[in-house]
Amino acid sequence: MRTHTVDHPLAATLLTTMRDARTPNAVFRNALRDLTGILVYEALREAPVTRYEIETPVAFAEGVRLAHPPLLVPVLRAGLGMVDAAAELIPNAQVGFVGIARDEATHQPVPYMESLPADLSGIPVYVLDPMVATGGSMRHTLELLAARGATDITAICVVAAPEGIALLEKSDLPVRLVTATVDSGLNSDAYIVPGLGDAGDRQFGPR
Ligand code: PRP
Ligand code: URA
Repeated sequence: MRTHTVDHPLAATLLTTMRDARTPNAVFRNALRDLTGILVYEALREAPVTRYEIETPVAFAEGVRLAHPPLLVPVLRAGLGMVDAAAELIPNAQVGFVGIARDEATHQPVPYMESLPADLSGIPVYVLDPMVATGGSMRHTLELLAARGATDITAICVVAAPEGIALLEKSDLPVRLVTATVDSGLNSDAYIVPGLGDAGDRQFGPR
């Protein structure tokens, strides 16, 4: 699996806002939305385009559109805060949903919802989840997508732990990871250190 860490001063300042425990929910949500725009921009840097002719007010010119409109898949809850920013940049994207809540005692992913197209062959898929900690939730999501024929998957996250990256590498699923940072590791509660806490709670409050 290829991992691309987005190294940009604006990404770093937004990440700092998200990490800061004093940041209120609304400011955290805004920072996640803005950072998602930067991550999506980087993730699509090499996306293939189709060329077609347009007319400016002055002359004919060559225009481009994405050759393959993608599917965006936010992982509920925390990924919800990324989907608007991604869809604004890619207006012809479709959106599927996966709901997973990690069991706080076992740290295992507990899936509770999926709403995805049946056939994903030939469709680029962008999974949106701010956190890859143990990697269990992302691996489960990738398995759902691969079972529907997806072979071109990008996981977009804000903070990844080396343990989660190792799990995804071992799984051999067709994915690359775009992240704002790879942090030091997990604590005994399987939270990322230094991380930013619970990304769902920090957007929406405790569940
Ligand atoms: C968080 C996060 C990921 C998952 C990462 O969701 O958004 O989905 O934990 O942990 P993992 O890599 O160890 O699986 P959480 O389960 O807290 O649910 P929430 O988004 O509803 O808060
Ligand atoms: N899920 C989160 O939201 N944060 C972590 O640090 C780990 C899992």
